[in-house]
Amino acid sequence: MRVGVFDSGIGGLSVVKSLKEYHLFEEIIYFGDTARVPYGVKDQNTIIRYALEAIEFFKNFDIDLLIVACNTVSAYALQEMKAHADFDVIGVVEAGVLATKNALNSKDAEILILGTKATIRSHAYEMQLKKHGFHHLVSRSTGLFVPIVEEGIFEGPVLQSIMQHYFHDLKTPDAIILGCTHFPLIEKEISRYFKNKSRLIHSGEAMVEYLHVRYNLTQNFPHCDMNFFASENPEALKEVARQWLKL
Ligand code: DGL
Repeated sequence: MRVGVFDSGIGGLSVVKSLKEYHLFEEIIYFGDTARVPYGVKDQNTIIRYALEAIEFFKNFDIDLLIVACNTVSAYALQEMKAHADFDVIGVVEAGVLATKNALNSKDAEILILGTKATIRSHAYEMQLKKHGFHHLVSRSTGLFVPIVEEGIFEGPVLQSIMQHYFHDLKTPDAIILGCTHFPLIEKEISRYFKNKSRLIHSGEAMVEYLHVRYNLTQNFPHCDMNFFASENPEALKEVARQWLKL
């Protein structure tokens, strides 16, 4: 099975990492729109326009399924993408909600939702979580994490002070939804900030769980061919992929 993975930049590699670990696919075609990242500060029309351009890109590859490994795009453009694609399109928000529901025993659990400005503004997670009965929800847009991850900063004083800026007034939640695929690259630091007491929900692992449940996909392919494309500086993206995915 050949799958496409789309993100605004390098963040979707965190989803590829999970797909690779679970050997779900024979071939992955990754596209990061690095020339136009971040999407999380853009408005809905722009996000939809970029997402539809990505659909056209993937039409060249005869894929069976497209995983939208970007919460911002999943929150705003999934329906439009489905309408224009001749392959299945699935997004990380629905997967993240399912994983959260399966991870928590009580509907009274306190859930912190982190995401880009656009994802938080869409209320996509809140609406779906409320439908499942969760009601202690706090959302915080933490968009500055995106450029620092794109910059290759995964720890250290800059990240510490940004976390302090965003989190200083928050109690330790039961679960934290990493509602942006860039955030797993700094998940250790986020977890440590909350004294490793919160359950972290990761779009990549959530997607693997979702693929098991909805598509009945199981570990199958010991080897996966991967091709990486980027709208700008593909070498930089490939370098992060080599390090992050241990290629
Ligand atoms: N990785 C993307 C997400 O999951 C967004 C980063 C951005 O382009 O702002 O939301």
